[in-house]
Amino acid sequence: MVSRVIPVQSFDLVLFGATGDLARRKILPSLYHRFQLGQFCDSSRIIGASRSDMDVASFRNLVADAVRQFGQKDEVNEEDIAAFVAQLDYVAIDAKGDRGWQDLTKHMRQDVVRAFYLSVAPSLFGDIVTRLRSTGIATDDSRIVVEKPFGHDLASAQALNQALRANFEESQIYRIDHYLGKETVQNLMALRFANSLFEPLWNSSHIDHVQITVAESIGVEGRGEYYDRSGAMRDMVQNHLMQLLCLTAMEPPGNFTPDAVRNEKVKVIEALEPVKNVDIARGQYRSKNGNGSYTDHAGNPDSQTESYIAMKVQVANWRWAGTPFYLRTGKCLRERTSEIAVFFRDPPHNIFQGSDPAKGNVLVIRLQPDEGITLHTTIKDPGPGGMRLTEAALDMTFADSLPEAERPQDAYERLIMDVIRGNQTLFMRGDEVEAAWAWADPIISGWAESRYAPSQYDIGTSGPEDALLLLHRDGRRWRSIGK
Ligand code: BG6
Repeated sequence: MVSRVIPVQSFDLVLFGATGDLARRKILPSLYHRFQLGQFCDSSRIIGASRSDMDVASFRNLVADAVRQFGQKDEVNEEDIAAFVAQLDYVAIDAKGDRGWQDLTKHMRQDVVRAFYLSVAPSLFGDIVTRLRSTGIATDDSRIVVEKPFGHDLASAQALNQALRANFEESQIYRIDHYLGKETVQNLMALRFANSLFEPLWNSSHIDHVQITVAESIGVEGRGEYYDRSGAMRDMVQNHLMQLLCLTAMEPPGNFTPDAVRNEKVKVIEALEPVKNVDIARGQYRSKNGNGSYTDHAGNPDSQTESYIAMKVQVANWRWAGTPFYLRTGKCLRERTSEIAVFFRDPPHNIFQGSDPAKGNVLVIRLQPDEGITLHTTIKDPGPGGMRLTEAALDMTFADSLPEAERPQDAYERLIMDVIRGNQTLFMRGDEVEAAWAWADPIISGWAESRYAPSQYDIGTSGPEDALLLLHRDGRRWRSIGK
């Protein structure tokens, strides 16, 4: 197979929080894989920066271990790991103090791309970007990468934006939502805007409703303290599900440039109607067969935080009036499944008396696992017995239909290389994040005011009953989670 990897310019990437969980699990193994594929040249360097006192050799060992533990098993190769870690450096630094900044200055080279990845608590963003500017380490064309959570509400997101913009232009700021780096999420744009088949049907005249599901089988996994302050609404809906909704609902941008795409996404968020409590189902997983409950994992017996949420969302514009978007996401569900399912309207007239022609008519865009696109259609049930209808799938599982393709890139790989390339299309703009919080805030505060408590669901199921009712009430049903 001929590799289609296009090398990027030489860079110095400074990774703040380099010994942290996200760096070890995702960022460093992703960089390793891109290095292994030959995407960056020998002169590019990654400089780890964190509070821990350690020398370069210890940092390289830590990264080698992270790659062995979290890299794709068939890609872990000791020779490649040795070559990769040889490009790493380390600086012990205090975000809020003087230690390490001079040392970091000495590490920076001229005439290469400078990128600063803040894989640290948002409370440190302001201190780090101010120091980067005042020391001259960051220049006018440097790039700043920040991770979610980007704020806890509108006010805190505005404060973070202010701290970043006091030091950098919007064109230098890369706010990561890793869902935008997923292969199928980008494919959604290709499907909609590179084919003329779907766009004429992509509106409320032809689409009955849309279901967006991000179901996880894992629980809160040692992140109980953070999660209990966030819940599914802040952790998943305000960002990941919102992005999926935007890409599904947005108008075709004039071109595939960062601002053209992001302008259209902002318009979708601004068109969202406020969501009432009756259109929301919140749940908390309870203990089953000795598995701890949500409140055990969160370490908070009185917690009212949701580990599951389903909601009916209306996009109030010409294209979508009358077509609801149902969103749901939760932890400890039956299976890990993420998909966008677009349900087309029933045919206007049924000529097949006694048989239901509306069994199919669903386009499913699967994000994970088994990335692909399936169009469920209604066909004649083969064989004798008259004109009976059944459902059959036009299936495009990418692993089957594109066997020659390289494995889909991990979302982080794609996004980090986009930072080096200077392409912001798959990153959230400041106004986009603020608009999403402006929509989410009143929903969240409404729960506290009305004392709207989450209901319980069993681990390994598809969530609380209220979520089923949310659709039954409208004469619709959720697609099943898992087989
Ligand atoms: C993160 C959330 O942003 O996304 C986690 O904080 C969640 O709670 C994760 O598990 C899901 O990502 P993915 O790529 O595994 O679907």
